[in-house]
Amino acid sequence: MTESIYDKYGFDAISKAVHDFYGRVLKSDVTAPYFQGYNMTRIIQHQTQFICMLLGGPASYRGRELEMAHHNLRITDDAFEEVGELLDETLEDHGFTDEEREFVMSKVASTRGVIVNETRTAG
Ligand code: HEM
Repeated sequence: MTESIYDKYGFDAISKAVHDFYGRVLKSDVTAPYFQGYNMTRIIQHQTQFICMLLGGPASYRGRELEMAHHNLRITDDAFEEVGELLDETLEDHGFTDEEREFVMSKVASTRGVIVNETRTAG
């Protein structure tokens, strides 16, 4: 039997990392504007469930489909990349190994198609 990343770190440590991650997202000029006016407590709660599920935990994600949650937000490739970098840095600071981070980042990368919806600029 192999231990999942969720088993290794546990809910509390993952939840702490997700809170830290959103602190960074809200400090970045690239990503902060997207979150203005949204209920961060709810987003963090959903994002924690989502990441726990991704890492092999029992928590079930109770939010909307990712595409529905992001389709009105006009998210650019730049913003997507910034979020990815901030997440990767946060996980590194919280002691996740290179291999674990690669796993998370490959999952995140696979969501690009449903999250980014502002790939073209005018003209
Ligand atoms: C990188 C992959 C991403 C994943 C896996 C992800 C995941 C999520 C999840 C699970 C929610 C909660 C949905 C709900 O409450 O029903 C959410 C909401 C949200 N996300 Fe993302 N997200 C990603 C990228 C981004 C990016 C790049 C931005 C903008 C820079 C962004 C902006 C938002 C905003 C503003 C909300 C709140 C929308 C609302 O409540 O209507 N997300 N995201």
